[in-house]
Amino acid sequence: MKLSDIKSSEAELQDYYAQLRSQHITPAWIGGGISREPKSKAVPWVWHWRDLRPQAMRAAQLVGTEQAERRVLRLTNPELPGQSASNTMVANIQIVMPGEIARAHRHSGSALRLIIEGKGGYTVVNGARLPMAPGDLVLTPNWTWHDHANDTDGPMIWLDGLDTPLVRMLEAGFYEEYYKETQTIGEGASLSVANYGNGGLRPAWEAAPATRYSPLWHYPMSQARAALERLAAERSGSPFDGIILEYTNPVTGGPAMPTIACFIQMLRAGERTQAHRSVCCTNYHVIEGRGYSIVGGARLDWEDKDVFTAPTWTFREHVNDSDRPAFLFSFTDAPVMKALDLYREEAKAG
Ligand SMILES: [Fe+2]
Repeated sequence: MKLSDIKSSEAELQDYYAQLRSQHITPAWIGGGISREPKSKAVPWVWHWRDLRPQAMRAAQLVGTEQAERRVLRLTNPELPGQSASNTMVANIQIVMPGEIARAHRHSGSALRLIIEGKGGYTVVNGARLPMAPGDLVLTPNWTWHDHANDTDGPMIWLDGLDTPLVRMLEAGFYEEYYKETQTIGEGASLSVANYGNGGLRPAWEAAPATRYSPLWHYPMSQARAALERLAAERSGSPFDGIILEYTNPVTGGPAMPTIACFIQMLRAGERTQAHRSVCCTNYHVIEGRGYSIVGGARLDWEDKDVFTAPTWTFREHVNDSDRPAFLFSFTDAPVMKALDLYREEAKAG
């Protein structure tokens, strides 16, 4: 047995290829080529709060929530045609003004909210009213009804993270409007938090929900900050990420949602992490702090409330060159990669 060596004339090959094209068939040995490792079309990028906030406020002057199902600014990676921050996940800015609601609906895509500005507005998820304060994480998992309302006297602005590009690519998206504008806040008003927001404790008299997403939909910043500070006093943390915690599904210990894992990390004043990379794209939001990250060789300077993206398989390292701790929220599609046995990670050599 050996490799076959067939030398056809160019004319014969071109004639054959033309026939194939007319039959909607493509010879796989021409063009394309083999990719030895993931190479994202997306580029590392940072969107600064100093640009985002005025544009969100301007959107609130120009467009009502009657006109827009959601008043959202999509952060668009310069190299991705699909208007998303990263390959599989969007990172958007949403604003709800005092007295406004955003209508109730549901969709197959999973969503998270990381509150940036405003305290006291709320999101209703399947009838449960969830409070929103800066740094809080609120989940609206796949196919859960959700609407938002702002009963405060200031704007509510948050980061929306969704897996819509992935769901669209899989052609798996469903969407439905609720039969009225807002959900009735039901008996289960705060059951999600009452049942599952108690650390390692949960009700023993009832079976855990069968959903794959977390039954806990509100993770307050106050809890996360306290946990990070406790750990930072005792542990050095990850060489790549400092003190980093995952927001887990309290039933399984796994990721918050089947397609999206969420993290919060604390970089101590002066801390510089080592570079590593993984097969997942990651979007970051700077809850507070100032520093920079080197992502795929690009230096992304960040400060309070900025958003930045790290494409798949690009080395990233973080530097807090300020004199106060930095808190970064991040979300990744790693659960998808792990579920499909596609996940890898490695440290940068040397
Ligand atoms: Fe939604």
